[in-house]
Amino acid sequence: MNRPPEPAATALALEVDREDEDPVCGILWSLGTLGIQLGDGAEGGNPMAITAHFPDADTARRAADRIHGLGYRAELRRIDPDEYSDRWRLHARTERIGSAIVLHPPWERPEPDHSDQLMLEIEPGRAFGSGSHPTTRLCLRLLVDHPPEPGCPPRVLDVGTGTGVLAVAAARLGAESVTVTETDPGVHATWELNAERNRVSHLIAPGDPDLSTHTDGYGLVMANLLLPTLRDLSEDLIRLITPRGRLIVSGVLVHQVDELLGVFGGLIPVDTVQEDGWVALCLKPEDR
Ligand SMILES: C[S@@+](CC[C@H](N)C(=O)[O-])C[C@H]1O[C@@H](n2cnc3c(N)ncnc32)[C@H](O)[C@@H]1O
Repeated sequence: MNRPPEPAATALALEVDREDEDPVCGILWSLGTLGIQLGDGAEGGNPMAITAHFPDADTARRAADRIHGLGYRAELRRIDPDEYSDRWRLHARTERIGSAIVLHPPWERPEPDHSDQLMLEIEPGRAFGSGSHPTTRLCLRLLVDHPPEPGCPPRVLDVGTGTGVLAVAAARLGAESVTVTETDPGVHATWELNAERNRVSHLIAPGDPDLSTHTDGYGLVMANLLLPTLRDLSEDLIRLITPRGRLIVSGVLVHQVDELLGVFGGLIPVDTVQEDGWVALCLKPEDR
C-alpha cells in the first residue's frame, strides 16, 4: 500500500536568550515567516523557545541557513499540513486599528466600540494578513488616514494581497474597485472568501502579478512586501500611481527606511508610522 508523502519541513525551532527574542523575531519576519509561536525554553537559564512557520520548505531552509549564520542553533521541523493550518489560526485574534477598524477572525465576535467602526471579518487560512503582524496594522492605519485624494481615480491596487485584508478594507472604505495581485496560488481562495464575507466581492478582482502589464494608473497603490521585492517592483509601482496618487509601502524594518527611500527616489514621504521596529510609509510623487 502507498504511504502518503511525508510533509516537508516548514517550521524552524530554536531557543534564544530572552533579550534576543525581539531582534530574532524581527529577522524571522524579514525572512518570510507566516507566524511565530513563543514558549518557555528548556529548563535552566532563561531561554525562549521560538517556532517560526514558513509557507514552504525552501523558504524554511533559507531561513535556517541565515539563522545558523547568526550563530543560533535552529532545527527544521515537519508540520503536518492540517496541524499547520490549526496552529496558524492560533496567531489570529481580534485587533483594533486605532478606533477606525476592528479586524477579527470568524471565531471571535467582538462588539463595535462605536457605530462608525469598520468591523472586518478576516479568515487567515494559510495566508499572511490576519492583522497579527505589525506591517498589516501599519498599512491599515495609513489607509484610514490617506484615502485617495479628491480628483484621483478611486481605483486601488493591492500588490501581494495575502488574505486580502488591505483590499477588503479599501473597498469597505469607499474604493470603487480594487485590483489584487498575488504570486502564491495557495492563498487565492482565502482573499476571495474574505471579499465575500465582507460583502465586497463585486469590487475586488485579481490582476496580473506582472505589473508591467498594467496600463491604467491607480489613485492608491499598496504593497506590503519585503525590501528586495519592493526594489524589484519599484519602477512599476511608481509608474502606476496617478497624478496626486499615493503609494503605501511596508515590510521594512527601521534600519531599512533610508534604503527604501533611495529605491523610491522621486517619491517623498507624506506620513511614516512604526510599530515594534517595523515601518510603513505613505509616499507621493515629488512634483505632484
Ligand atoms: C507580507 S504579505 C502581505 C499580505 C497583506 N497584504 C497584508 O498587508 O497583510 C506579502 C504577500 O505578497 C505575496 N507576494 C510576494 N511577492 C509578490 C509579488 N512579486 N507580487 C505579488 N505578490 C507577492 C506573498 O505571497 C504574500 O502573500
